[in-house]
Order: sequence, then C-alpha cells, then structure tokens
Amino acid sequence: MCGIVGYIGSRQAFPILMKGLYRLEYRGYDSAGIALLNGDLKLYKTKGKVADLEKFVFGKDITGTVGIAHTRWATHGEPNNVNAHPHFSQSRNLAIIHNGIIENYLALKKELISRGYKFESDTDTEVLIHLIDDIRNNEGVTLDEAVRIALNEVVGAYAIAIISKNDPDMLVAARKGSPLVVGIGIDEFFLASDAAPIVEHTKEVIYLNDEEIVCIRRGEQIKIKTIKNKNKTPYSQKLEMNLSEIEKGGFDHFMLKEIYEQPRSILDSMRGRLNARQGKVKLGGIIDYEQKMANAQRIIIVACGTSWHAGLVGEYLFEDLARIPVEVEYASEFRYRNPIITEDDIVIAISQSGETADTLAAIELAKSKGATIIGICNVVGSSIARATHAGSYTHAGPEIGVASTKAFTAQVTILTLMALRLAQMRGTIKKTRFYQILNELESIPDKVSETLKIDTKIKELASLFIGTRNFLYLGRGYNFPVAMEGALKLKEISYIHAEGYPAAEMKHGPIALIDQEMPVVVIATNKGTYDKVISNIQEVKARRGIIIAIVTKGDVAVKDLADYIIEVPETEELLVPLLATIPLQLLSYHIAVGRNCNVDQPRNLAKSVTVE
Ligand code: G6P
Repeated sequence: MCGIVGYIGSRQAFPILMKGLYRLEYRGYDSAGIALLNGDLKLYKTKGKVADLEKFVFGKDITGTVGIAHTRWATHGEPNNVNAHPHFSQSRNLAIIHNGIIENYLALKKELISRGYKFESDTDTEVLIHLIDDIRNNEGVTLDEAVRIALNEVVGAYAIAIISKNDPDMLVAARKGSPLVVGIGIDEFFLASDAAPIVEHTKEVIYLNDEEIVCIRRGEQIKIKTIKNKNKTPYSQKLEMNLSEIEKGGFDHFMLKEIYEQPRSILDSMRGRLNARQGKVKLGGIIDYEQKMANAQRIIIVACGTSWHAGLVGEYLFEDLARIPVEVEYASEFRYRNPIITEDDIVIAISQSGETADTLAAIELAKSKGATIIGICNVVGSSIARATHAGSYTHAGPEIGVASTKAFTAQVTILTLMALRLAQMRGTIKKTRFYQILNELESIPDKVSETLKIDTKIKELASLFIGTRNFLYLGRGYNFPVAMEGALKLKEISYIHAEGYPAAEMKHGPIALIDQEMPVVVIATNKGTYDKVISNIQEVKARRGIIIAIVTKGDVAVKDLADYIIEVPETEELLVPLLATIPLQLLSYHIAVGRNCNVDQPRNLAKSVTVE
C-alpha cells in the first residue's frame, strides 16, 4: 500500500526516484508525486500512474540531488491531485511522503486547526507534517528531533520520509508497521518501501525496525534512533535479490512471467529441504519448534487473500497426513472475535509480502496469548517473518504482479513439506506412502512445466469468454481451495464476477444462477470423489450451463460431458493443487488481457496491504 522512495547523494535524484516509483508501482497506483531540493523545495504531484507524473513534470525544473517520491493507494481522501503525496508543511519548508494510516489523525487535526493550521488535503498525512512543523517552530529542535517528538503523539502505522528546505543535506525517515529499507551506496543513500528500487544501485541495505528513525546526512554515517530516543547501531545486510528477478524478462506482464516461473519457484521452495531418495524432509527454519508442532492438539492458520486459500489447502494436508486438527482463519476476523488461543496452539501465519496488517495483528494477538507462531513468508526480513517465533521462507523470488501466482504454489509446497514432516514425526503415515509422496513431490516442477504447455489452448479458450459477466468455479476436497483461488484470480484482474464453491454445495444456492450463459469451471481430477463430481457436472449440464473441466490426462468420462477440457498431468491427489492452479491462472490472465485490463495493476487493489 503506497510505495515510497528517497535519494540523497551526488547524482540527480529525479531519474533514480522515477525508476524507483515504477518498481514500487505494484504497491499502489492511483496518484504519484515527487519533491526535489535544489535551493528551492519543488513539489510535483498528480492523480494517475507514475507515467502520468512523468508526463506532468515534462519541461519543469527537476534538478536536485535530494528528493522523495510516492505512489499512492488511497485511504484518506479520494485519489486526486491534492491528496497525492508529497505534502507540504504550512511554511512550505518541509515535504513528507507516507505509507500507512495515522489512526488518531482527527484529534490531531482538530488541535492543529485550533492552532491556526490550514489543511489543503483530506489525508491523514498532512496532519503529521503540520505537527512536525509545529514542534520544530515552537520547540526550536532539529528536524529529526521534531519527527521523533511528533511520532510519540501518533497512533497508527507509518513509513515516512521528510526533506527540508532549511536542511538541504538531510533526509529523515521513520517506520512503524510499514516497511522501509535504506540502501547504502558510495557517497549516496537510497530509501524505499522494499529493496526493488535499490538493488540496481547497491546491495548493502539496512532494514529499519518499528519505531526507528533514520537521519541521513550527505557525507556522513547514517544515524538511527528509536522514537524513545535510544541510539541504535545500524547493521547492514547484503541483498540477495538480482535485477533480473524484478524485470519482465521479455514477458508482456509480470503476472505471466511469474506464472511461467513456477517450475523454478516450486523447486526453489523445496531446495535443500526434500530428499526423496533418503526419505528426508528438513525445514531448517522450524527445526527448533517441530517437536512442539508435532505435539500440537490444534493448528490455527491465519492469512488473507490468496495466502488464505493456500491455508485451506494446508488444512487438508495437515489433517490428512499428520492427523492434527486445523482451523483456517481470515486474519482480519480472527483478531476481532475474541478467539480462544492457548499456549499449546500452533499458529501458522502465511503471507507473501510479510507485511499484511491484518495478518500481523493476528500474530500479535496469538503471541500475547502464548501461542507459538510459525511464519510462511516470501519476503525475507519482512515484518511478519520477524514477528514469528520461527518459519520457512517460500523462496519464490520477488512477486510483482498484484495477483498472486507463484507465491501461492510455493506456499502450498511449504505446507506440503511441513505436513509430511509432522506426519513422519507423529507416525501417522506409512513409510512406503511417505516415500511415494516425496518422490511425486520431487517430480512436480517438471509436471508444472508440462502443464504450462497448454497455454496456447487456454488462450484460445479464453477468447470465447471475454464478454462473460459471471463465472462459477467448483471443486471438491483439495480442489475446493483451488476453485476459490481460480475465482479470486479471475475477479481480481478481469473484473468478471466469479465465485468458488465446493462442488456439492452448488445445489444449495449457486445452481439458481446457472443458465446457458454461465461458464462453470469444474476441477475434476479427484480420484476419491470422481463420480460425485460427474454428478455435479450433470446437474450443470441439465441446466444448460457451459462446462470447462480441468481433468487428469487421459480422462474419458468427464471429457464426454464437458464443453471444454483442460488436461493436467496425473499426480497424487494431495498434490493436484500445484498443477490444477496453473490453467486457472492462465485462464484469468488471458481473459483479462482480452478485456484490455491492466493485469499487473488491477484497479483498486494493491499487492501489499499494510492497512487494516
Ligand atoms: C492483497 C493482494 C493479494 C494477497 C493478499 C494477502 O490483497 O492483492 O494478492 O493474496 O493481499 O497478501 P500477503 O502478502 O499477506 O500474502
């Protein structure tokens, strides 16, 4: 939610900041802006995308070696030119950019209005800059000290960056709840919501912790202190990321690239963790906690969006293999319904970004009740990864398309490994069966590659449904979460209404919607419930619905009934989600492209939802 970038050094800041904004645009893209210091403090902002900002500044003075820039996902105030960031202080000496929400902004705003401050925008951010300005003017303190005092008054989440006309060689930034990374170059510093804008300039970074303020002065070492005024030693880390990972690499969209990356990303998520020949599953990150996990009476999985769907697959896996009862919760609901959590509970938090505010809040709640928290995150060093007791990174590589694809299959892979390991420890799986699944899991990356070969066929199929208004997705057992994920993917990027349902549940409601215009995607690979799924298909056909069936290669019965068939390679039933998801991702992608939708940046969505 909102991307922020900053630069201070000897180079011109504008091109660095603009490129950084493009790299962070996945975080929010309803308006964008930039502030540059060059004697004067210049501020340019506009509604629209980063490209609109680039057009807007054409011909204007964009010189300066210090600057901050922002791409917005609106919370307070509609996306327009005024609410776009940066925001000036009243004196117009300071400019701020902000990612997060100041929850007590109304009380602060009232107080500031009574002290004579005038507000131009509807944002919570403007409150913050007036407050900082007020403290600076009244208490005669330095900018970083004014920021520190102000942040003690603030309730909420923030990653902020501020520059000042009176301190042209300084950039001040702080974080709580929203991520912030500082890049250290030679005589130059970078600041960003994540490492993507930094990686091409330097690999040395410092991840700020919550409630830390960084003061970056040209030509000096950076200084970090907490909002309680405790000095912190800055510890830098080496970035593992490569530039190629965050570029499109010849694909039309990041989403398509990420769909195609799945053979590798699934392999990477298993790398060093699975050895089928020796019958070994080893998740190093949770080794100290696996006995506790194996003894658990219950596992609670908390997540949002696509990660929640991965959690549903996890429920089937843990119960099926390890015989541990599992509850899967929307993180947002979990937090607000006074859940019963004990010290014996294991809470698994799943998150691609590792920054989702609801998931983070659910973790904090479960932690406060003494539960053990295990993370499954993609972004290394992210807030959720740091808030958990232990965890396993998915190692899927940066995911930039807003609709999650490779992160989902990597999460499911990790959940499969965890369930297998716990099953092995608890003795709930026969050795031969264990080896069988391990062997099959090892072959999944190749089977995903094979599945991807149907892309051309799916593209043709998609062209028939460009104008469709509703879709239904049905699946049973392991394929029920896959149906939900398929429907989510379609609505996210094509704006076609779609619902995912357990196939048998169709007759309790959705069947009323079925007519000759309603495509029904049925995932019909299940061995256990194959006949029942066939009955569900019959029910749809009897009402003249259009069946698009995902079947196992060589299937005969469904083939005869369905209007369209998509084949996936044969695999173990519990591993089908890793294959059946692929055609559904491709179907959504091609329908969205056919409808001229912005696939990588769908309207109203953001990749990293750092507000509750
Ligand atoms: C947003 C994204 C989804 C994602 C969800 C959870 O809604 O658009 O793609 O699944 O957040 O994000 P997380 O980073 O916690 O997995």
